[in-house]
Amino acid sequence: MSPHNIISEIDGLGDKTAKKLIWNARNALGMTEFITAGEIDENTEYITTGSSELNRILGGGFQTGKLTEVYGPFKSGKTNLAHTIAVTIQLPKKKGGLGSAVAYIDTENTFAKEKIKRIAKRFGLDPKEVLSQIFHARIYSSDHQMQMIQKAETLCKTRNVRLIVVDSLMALLRAEYVGIGMLARRQGVLNNMIHGLSRVAETYNCAILLTNQVSTKMMGMFSANDAIGGNIVAHGCHFRVMFKTKGFSSNNSLKRRAIIVDAPDLPPEEAEFFITSVGIADTEKGEVPEAKGLDFEVETLYEEETPEVGITEDTTNSGEYSLIDVKGIGDGTAKNLAKNGIASVEDLLESDPETLAPKISGISSKMINEWQTNAKALLNA
Ligand SMILES: Nc1ncnc2c1ncn2[C@@H]1O[C@H](COP(=O)(O)OP(=O)(O)OP(=O)(O)O)[C@@H](O)[C@H]1O
Ligand SMILES: [Mg+2]
Repeated sequence: MSPHNIISEIDGLGDKTAKKLIWNARNALGMTEFITAGEIDENTEYITTGSSELNRILGGGFQTGKLTEVYGPFKSGKTNLAHTIAVTIQLPKKKGGLGSAVAYIDTENTFAKEKIKRIAKRFGLDPKEVLSQIFHARIYSSDHQMQMIQKAETLCKTRNVRLIVVDSLMALLRAEYVGIGMLARRQGVLNNMIHGLSRVAETYNCAILLTNQVSTKMMGMFSANDAIGGNIVAHGCHFRVMFKTKGFSSNNSLKRRAIIVDAPDLPPEEAEFFITSVGIADTEKGEVPEAKGLDFEVETLYEEETPEVGITEDTTNSGEYSLIDVKGIGDGTAKNLAKNGIASVEDLLESDPETLAPKISGISSKMINEWQTNAKALLNA
């Protein structure tokens, strides 16, 4: 998925060789075939934000596989959101998390361990354990930021990282590249960062949170806040969410408003939430929102005793766990597996990776092997 000019920079590889390698790799993965839309494996997973209202307007929570930009004025809650989901992603799937780790790229030195500990307690997690699953990097320059974005990819591979936070995306760039003469260079650097992150999001089905500052534009008598970074950020992010502080009667209120500004398949809705000492929440008290969606579906499926032949029926099993509880398997994959007779965790463990893999597009025997290992770990947990 890398562009060939990046590969050809590797010592000893010419332009031609690089291109050939990439083409062959694509062939090997079946990326050079069109597939029917029905076969597209979206596999989106959701992380709870701590507020059910905010989850609702995001279509179920913070989504994996995509870049989400959250922008707003200072103290609007961006860093608080980053802290909250750095914890909630570690929750098990049934409680609104992914059971995964986080890479936290901190350009403003606003990461707070104590806050993380409090949020962890709110969600019933062991604070020490939670801190051990947050890989933090304090960033000092835009070049350092790029370097650590690349490093974060390695963490996705080796440390089960499924969320990368960049808080904030533009702070250092804004300080380093001053003036109109530097703009083209700044946008070039930004472009590399956004594309790199986009590729990681897709490759590892990883969620990406980019926070962004705003600048105030005067339009005649009115002023409006706009995210900085221009078109590269605006077009590069799949979801754009604006946080607002104004419009509430009390100036020191901790009530905030979120607005979906741009999303491929979400209406432009608004939600209200609170900043609390234990992260983002629906009310000032900071209670834990009920994990909606998944739990509900699983329960209703259990209630329906009549065995109907259907994909939804097949994706759950009568035992304690269903396929989607296995690390690495999302909704889409579970459905594809069910179509090939793998309906339960037990079926998965009994299957032969070598014969199963060729039947499902985009899935290798290595992946199945890995799921089997994860399934065993799940059953033994
Ligand atoms: N323990 C806490 N209890 C209640 N509110 C808090 C607590 N800690 C921080 N806040 C509130 O959170 C707000 C700061 O939010 P946050 O740091 O998430 O903003 P931000 O959008 O990241 O701002 P910036 O652009 O400056 O980075 C402040 O208004 C502060 O009063
Ligand atoms: Mg902040």
